[in-house]
Amino acid sequence: MIKIITLLFGVSLFFSFTDWQDSDLTKSISRGKDIYTDFCVTCHKPNGEGTPKFFPPLAKSDFLINNRAESIKSVKYGQKGKINVNGIPYNGTMPNPGLTDTEVADVMNYILNSWGNQSDKMVTVEEVLWLKP
Ligand code: HEC
Repeated sequence: MIKIITLLFGVSLFFSFTDWQDSDLTKSISRGKDIYTDFCVTCHKPNGEGTPKFFPPLAKSDFLINNRAESIKSVKYGQKGKINVNGIPYNGTMPNPGLTDTEVADVMNYILNSWGNQSDKMVTVEEVLWLKP
């Protein structure tokens, strides 16, 4: 009897662990990685470091970390004009990547949780949906 109970306990522990690994955030980040590779990597580079003065970094970007809504808008609508990222001024143009709101949320979750960036507060589709230019 004890053995069966231990076994059941072990099995349920195993499943709750796999559940935790496969959380919504984890899934969103992994979809976001593919979107990043298709739509962002040419300018922001595989390591998220961009090209100083031309394409701003996303890795440890103070702009990204401190301006959540503005960053989501950049990804949703494109971005141009003067911005400062990690003390370096940029005055370029990021074309509208043309993503769906779900894709914007996924790629945001990826960039917010890569290259040393970390954010537990998941970007949701609803959050993207309500943001206007
Ligand atoms: C054609 C090059 C290009 C592509 C492709 C591109 N960006 Fe950008 N991105 C830029 C430039 C240039 C800026 C700065 C614009 C400015 O100077 O106002 C920028 C700014 C940003 C910013 C805000 C500044 C920062 O560094 O935190 C974020 C966030 C961002 N891009 C994310 C993305 C994501 C995610 C994708 C893919 C969906 C993407 N970009 C695709 C060129 C690009």
